[in-house]
Amino acid sequence: MATVQLCIALLFLLQLLSLQFASLGYNVPDKYFINCGSDNSVTESGKVYVGESTLQATFSSSNTERNQSSVPSPLYQTARIFRMDSWYKFDIDKNGTYLVRLHFFPFSSPTNLSSATFNVSVPGFWLLQNSNGRNDTNNNSALVKEFFMEIRTPSIKITFRPLESSFAFVNAIELFVLPLNLISDKVSRFTPIGGTSPLSGGLYSRVLETKRRLNVGGQTTRDILLRNWIPDDIYLTYPENAKNRTPYQGKIVPRVGDDSDGPNATNYTAPSEVYGTAKESINISDSARDLSLFNITWALPVDSNTDHFLRLHFCDYLSSQVGLTFFDLSIYDAHVIQINTEEADVSNELPAPYYYDFVVNSDNSGIIKVSLTPDGTAAIPNAFLNGLEIMKVIESSNSVPPDLEEPDSEYNRLPLLLGSVLGGLVLVSIVVLFGFLWRCKMKKEKSAENSDWLPILDNAGGSSHGRLTDITNHCSPIPKINLELKIPLIDLQLATKSFHATQLIGKGGFGNVYKGVLRNGMTVAVKRSQPGSGQGLPEFQTEIMVLSKIRHKHLVSLIGYCDERFEMILVYEYMEKGTLRDHLYSTMLPSLSWKVRLQICIDSARGLHYLHKGAAGGIIHRDVKSTNILLDENHVAKVADFGLSRSGPDTQPHVTTGVKGTFGYLDPEYFGSQQLTEKSDVYSFGVVLLEVLCARAAIDPSLPTDQINLAEWGLLCKNKGILQDIIDPSIKDQINQNSLRKFSETIEKCLQEDGSDRPSMGDVLWDLEYALQLQTGPYDDSSSGVSASLQLPNVRRLPSLSTLNEAGDESDCAVDYAFSED
Ligand SMILES: *[C@@H]1O[C@H](CO)[C@@H](O)[C@H](O)[C@H]1NC(C)=O
Ligand SMILES: *[C@@H]1O[C@H](CO)[C@@H](O)[C@H](O)[C@H]1NC(C)=O
Ligand SMILES: *[C@@H]1O[C@H](CO)[C@@H](O)[C@H](O)[C@H]1NC(C)=O
Ligand SMILES: *[C@@H]1O[C@H](CO)[C@@H](O)[C@H](O)[C@H]1NC(C)=O
Ligand SMILES: *[C@@H]1O[C@H](CO)[C@@H](O)[C@H](O)[C@H]1NC(C)=O
Ligand SMILES: *[C@@H]1O[C@H](CO)[C@@H](O)[C@H](O)[C@H]1NC(C)=O
Ligand SMILES: *[C@@H]1O[C@H](CO)[C@@H](O)[C@H](O)[C@H]1NC(C)=O
Ligand SMILES: *[C@@H]1O[C@H](CO)[C@@H](O)[C@H](O)[C@H]1NC(C)=O
Ligand SMILES: *[C@@H]1O[C@H](CO)[C@@H](O)[C@H](O)[C@H]1NC(C)=O
Ligand SMILES: *[C@@H]1O[C@H](CO)[C@@H](O)[C@H](O)[C@H]1NC(C)=O
Repeated sequence: MATVQLCIALLFLLQLLSLQFASLGYNVPDKYFINCGSDNSVTESGKVYVGESTLQATFSSSNTERNQSSVPSPLYQTARIFRMDSWYKFDIDKNGTYLVRLHFFPFSSPTNLSSATFNVSVPGFWLLQNSNGRNDTNNNSALVKEFFMEIRTPSIKITFRPLESSFAFVNAIELFVLPLNLISDKVSRFTPIGGTSPLSGGLYSRVLETKRRLNVGGQTTRDILLRNWIPDDIYLTYPENAKNRTPYQGKIVPRVGDDSDGPNATNYTAPSEVYGTAKESINISDSARDLSLFNITWALPVDSNTDHFLRLHFCDYLSSQVGLTFFDLSIYDAHVIQINTEEADVSNELPAPYYYDFVVNSDNSGIIKVSLTPDGTAAIPNAFLNGLEIMKVIESSNSVPPDLEEPDSEYNRLPLLLGSVLGGLVLVSIVVLFGFLWRCKMKKEKSAENSDWLPILDNAGGSSHGRLTDITNHCSPIPKINLELKIPLIDLQLATKSFHATQLIGKGGFGNVYKGVLRNGMTVAVKRSQPGSGQGLPEFQTEIMVLSKIRHKHLVSLIGYCDERFEMILVYEYMEKGTLRDHLYSTMLPSLSWKVRLQICIDSARGLHYLHKGAAGGIIHRDVKSTNILLDENHVAKVADFGLSRSGPDTQPHVTTGVKGTFGYLDPEYFGSQQLTEKSDVYSFGVVLLEVLCARAAIDPSLPTDQINLAEWGLLCKNKGILQDIIDPSIKDQINQNSLRKFSETIEKCLQEDGSDRPSMGDVLWDLEYALQLQTGPYDDSSSGVSASLQLPNVRRLPSLSTLNEAGDESDCAVDYAFSED
């Protein structure tokens, strides 16, 4: 019994121990291997390169494209194209030396990838300058650039910077942490005159770029870090002085552990295919007097007058015992060190792999010359080398622009600001002209023949190109925007499948709107500005400021925003049923009943009333229209799009300098006064009520002149008593005549030319509720919308102050009421 228990205990212990040993080892991490420009993952050399839709890293996708071609390696069948400075951002969870590999393959596609020219940088370093992404030696092969860098920051950005009027591209990116001490910070720097001295500042303050990695005396091979080793023969200066040693047949066991700081090689320094092959001197006859003539020399192409990191790998599997062979290492014919396995203090057990590192400054010949010369005093005169790596040392550069991410960064904001100020000026001039034309038209009244300007107007206000920026906004300091609502770009990319076309639910002057699902499962609408356009920045900031202060059942809630780099993204609650306009005309959707339409008008009026008089107080929407009223799955309406909103103290008149709003909805008084008031919203809302009743656009240039403008046409019909004739045929039979009368009177009051003659939103709300009551019958309390609103505690009935007007006062003036705050 006892022995069985002991055995089990021992087995357990053994298992524990083996686990512990295993944890000492290093495995190439899965992060990050990225198949750029694709949503699909690809397996190459046993590594899974994930598509960007499943990306754990963020990339700024500003102006990117994808393309495909029929290239043998699937990794090179897609590329991401950058037409402006763009980056991939990687989270770093471990300090250490990282390997970065960039793959470029300019496959043929309509976007001629061969014509790219770009720089690539990481903070403080240029990785590539004026690169064209082409492999100069073989244009049917990829260009693979490999870098080693120390990273001690929580994240790193690799930035692609296209040269002027060109673009950048990349097919794949690898970035992963290397085993500890693969490269040491401390290294000797060698100069032909001056010998060796420690490299000041250390290697970790620099970046290394692989130039050549030679499996000396061996074949092409790839190691576990996916580094390629190639034969050395073509770099030999005197091939007649060297021969390949037969490969080692046994097993090369590097020193175990990964904390080596000296010449001892670890499992990851170089593979046994490298240490188990070598080039050695030809047979040296006993009579040979000048052994320097038996030198083995490699000439390695490098950049001129630049520091290079040189690593020489040795493994004496040639000798039967330690100390029989030693030889001299020279660089540029200057003696550097004697190579002696005994001196290297590796181990008395052969073969023992080890290496030497040097930083060497190249001369202007474009090559670095490395020579090994046998020593005549050795028992067996010979020289050998197993592997050689050469990397360019990239010094940090002040010319690399800093990362631009912080919202308050001057550099980031300045070009955008200048751009939109100039844009704003141009737009304002255009609008002054439009305003002038508009006033001419208003003067001409119904006899207007002048319609030259109409065709260029937005048909129904679906897009916002009629909107203009407010100059005063630019002059004020950039407002501090709510940082709690900030959502990382990566989350939005995940939510929208990297802004995939299948997620697109809307387009506007601002940019595109995508449907997305956040990590917490919430469905949202993601409004993304045209990247880098600089358009709409003031609107963007206003919208964040205004919306973050507001929570109301009938106002679309802002969930968050993202302003990383050049992105301007707003995230709203998702409104399942889209815009009110979509349910009124030019659509396949089923027609809404009159009662539902009334309820939608009531909801929207309540939202606007809250904007004007609610807790946030004194906010003018300034762009009320049927595309800015959204419906949720239960047709509950919410007012959206506060990009043009302006809040201010209640006591001050809302004076503005720029023109806002959308033609067809715009308060006619505005062109005279240049002021927008709450009553301007009331006017626009009156146009929306007409749209709801007639199911047609606010401006329809295809109609006869007097019918183009719905507001004018509606008033004309009302005055003539023929409003019946322009009602949406699909609801005509449902409408109770009293309800219609109340509704049309409300419209008429809203559309009064003089703002002071128009009711407040509170009045409008009450009128609409009354119209609904008239529709459902005075004793029918079942309509929850009505009863709920009547229970509002802070609303009491007051005689309306704004019902006196020329055309509006008919029989039931006495039952007009207004909502008002206590
Ligand atoms: C190093 O490689 C040898 C041979 O492949 C292996 O036996 C040993 O476990 C490895 N050591 C570590 C620490 O991984
Ligand atoms: C990508 O390639 C496809 C097919 O080769 C081509 O139709 C498309 O225009 C290309 N797109 C771009 C942006 O070059
Ligand atoms: C693509 O660009 C390269 C470099 O500018 C040029 O040599 C080549 O002719 C171009 N190819 C095509 C198909 O336009
Ligand atoms: C590059 O490819 C073209 C055709 O694809 C070929 O004519 C040319 O010789 C190649 N150049 C090099 C340097 O391989
Ligand atoms: C260029 O292509 C050759 C041949 O495929 C390859 O061996 C070499 O590594 C490539 N050069 C670069 C810098 O990627
Ligand atoms: C990484 O290095 C930085 C700077 O040397 C240090 O502040 C940070 O704490 C380190 N992080 C970890 C996880 O070791
Ligand atoms: C790219 O690098 C070159 C060479 O240093 C530099 O002159 C140029 O300004 C850089 N261009 C960009 C867009 O970063
Ligand atoms: C190299 O390994 C041997 C044997 O494990 C050890 O005695 C020696 O101290 C090591 N040298 C260095 C510099 O780590
Ligand atoms: C070199 O020496 C070895 C062993 O002494 C011998 O087998 C081989 O034939 C010699 N090679 C030449 C080219 O003389
Ligand atoms: C190296 O060997 C070659 C060929 O034997 C000889 O011409 C050259 O002078 C030698 N170099 C030195 C530094 O002795």
